[in-house]
Amino acid sequence: MKTEKHSHAIGIFDSGVGGLTVFDEIVKHLPEYNYIYLGDNARVPYGTRSFETVYKYTLECVSQLYEMGCRLVVIACNTASAKALRTIQQNDLKHFGDGFKVLGVIRPTVEKIGEISKTNHVGLFATNGTVNSQSYVIEINKFFPNVQVFQEACPLWVPLIEQNEFDSEGGRYFIKKHVQSLLSQSEKIDTILLACTHYPIIYQLLRELIPDHIQIVSQGEIVGESLKDYLKRHPEIEQLLQKNNSARFFTTESNLDFDNKAKMFVKFPIKSQIIEL
Ligand code: DGL
Repeated sequence: MKTEKHSHAIGIFDSGVGGLTVFDEIVKHLPEYNYIYLGDNARVPYGTRSFETVYKYTLECVSQLYEMGCRLVVIACNTASAKALRTIQQNDLKHFGDGFKVLGVIRPTVEKIGEISKTNHVGLFATNGTVNSQSYVIEINKFFPNVQVFQEACPLWVPLIEQNEFDSEGGRYFIKKHVQSLLSQSEKIDTILLACTHYPIIYQLLRELIPDHIQIVSQGEIVGESLKDYLKRHPEIEQLLQKNNSARFFTTESNLDFDNKAKMFVKFPIKSQIIEL
């Protein structure tokens, strides 16, 4: 692939629409760039799939974004960041050529989270895949060895959000169940991280269920700030990026369905296109 100066977009990838919560914050921090968002809605959820499957799907989507002209891709999905990012960075990037970069959402989140907690007791909600990978526990221990991490896997939350059923009686039941289960792990938890890009959608509901003294942290803003800082520190990447303030959206499933779901995640209308991988 050839690398031309000033002609590339920033790619943002998620298993579905959840990554739009990260996209939204990235654009707030870096409005001047061109973006291509890819949601693998045909294969969501990733959270209950094996390491091999999540890696295969993620590599296909990242490759697709490079094919479409991106040089920098943000994996705006915790599950894919946990299960595929490192292997792609270490084994696959070299096959694309110079100047191809991929970043995830776990590292920038971890770098901030230990500074937020005063009790050094942090809870997190995430998919089964993210929880079982232990990525947050391992990374937080590296940066903040004094912080204890309490995890709660919430396998139904992504489908409930994708189907807009989270505020129904059944939806509330499953949300409450996991909140109680996390809170019962330690009375000292003062910070809860929403370690899945879908979860900011249920922030209000969680706020009602979680005591006021506990902070609820979403990742979008953290990732937006961290990407801004990354581009400052890497002018060789920044110089490759086109600045026309544009965004295009692609989905591997129905574009009408994507556009409809996207209304939950961003305030502006989205017209996506279907893409076959
Ligand atoms: N939004 C993804 C994440 O941050 C998970 C959704 C899924 O299970 O595919 O982990």
